[in-house]
Amino acid sequence: MADLRFDGRVALVTGAGGSIGRAHAMLLASRGAKIVVNDYNTSVSGEAGKSQDNPGERVAKELRALGTEAVVNTDSVAEPAGAQRMVDQAFDEFGRLDIIINNAGIAVCDYIHEEPGPKYERNLNILLEGPMYVVRAAWERMKAQKFGRILNTSSASIFGFNQPDGNWWGAYVLAKSAITAYTRQLGGYGEQFGIKANAILPLAYSRMNWNLLKGTPEGDFLEKYATPESVAAASGYLLHEECPVSGASFSVSGGRIARVVYAEPLGYHSHNLTPELVKQNWATAMGEVGADYKMCDFYEIPNLLEESMLMLKAGVGKT
Ligand SMILES: NC(=O)c1ccc[n+]([C@@H]2O[C@H](COP(=O)([O-])OP(=O)(O)OC[C@H]3O[C@@H](n4cnc5c(N)ncnc54)[C@H](O)[C@@H]3O)[C@@H](O)[C@H]2O)c1
Repeated sequence: MADLRFDGRVALVTGAGGSIGRAHAMLLASRGAKIVVNDYNTSVSGEAGKSQDNPGERVAKELRALGTEAVVNTDSVAEPAGAQRMVDQAFDEFGRLDIIINNAGIAVCDYIHEEPGPKYERNLNILLEGPMYVVRAAWERMKAQKFGRILNTSSASIFGFNQPDGNWWGAYVLAKSAITAYTRQLGGYGEQFGIKANAILPLAYSRMNWNLLKGTPEGDFLEKYATPESVAAASGYLLHEECPVSGASFSVSGGRIARVVYAEPLGYHSHNLTPELVKQNWATAMGEVGADYKMCDFYEIPNLLEESMLMLKAGVGKT
């Protein structure tokens, strides 16, 4: 099979100073892309100026040593003017922007009794609004060039998160759930303009989680198999011009990629539904009984129309 190349393509990778972001940048560069390496140089919990040298500079040096054209941007994605500058930099330096990888992230724990509060706002600002600012800054020009690939970074925490430290982490999960919904909407809308957006739910042994996982069996397993490079390898196809989907989400880690589906069973329907009927038919509503209603008969809901079709099939509207 021919290599999937990115020659002539320009990619902006946010939070590319280390771990997963660096791996995305290296993979695209190794296949011909020019890279804008963004990093705001934060601690895991988002304080800026964590180290004296911006780690983006180191990654750009690595890329240039491999013969890649790479420039550094040190703005925060969470500030509209910063997002604008990193996008402008791609157009100014390289004349176009084909790929946005919204990877920059923090992990800061907040508590129910503090929400919404400053930590909630930090999570939402960096993990949700940041990607929105970056996309917003590029949108009209991507539309004009009739091509764009956007990869947003969600998290498996959206399935229901039980942190190893036993804490709440609510705002992180809210932001990651919202970015998945945003991607779905963006992906559906953008396709008409040649712009595809998808999301990944990565798992990698990285700076973000090694404090939480170090020395645990899960940590040992992830350190061995769940490398940032394995996340980048799985994501590459989603960034390519041949990418066949838009608005989808994928679990990616350790050499595995799997579509995350939005699904529901056919469910129970009655023209005269009452709370008692719901109680009586609970197992059907849950997708747990009946030849047509088993868990394996969950129906993927790619869009609103499919949801209506499922309602029809379940009997809604039939007299
Ligand atoms: N590591 C995992 O297992 C895992 C799991 C689920 C989701 N994620 C997500 O993957 C992404 C990358 O995580 P990682 O594990 O590589 O973490 P990391 O902490 O190693 O890297 C994050 C990078 O983002 C940068 N950054 C933070 N705030 C920024 C801002 N406002 N503007 C620009 N750059 C900023 C940091 O300086 C850092 O270099 C994050 O969005 C994270 O939430 C990671």
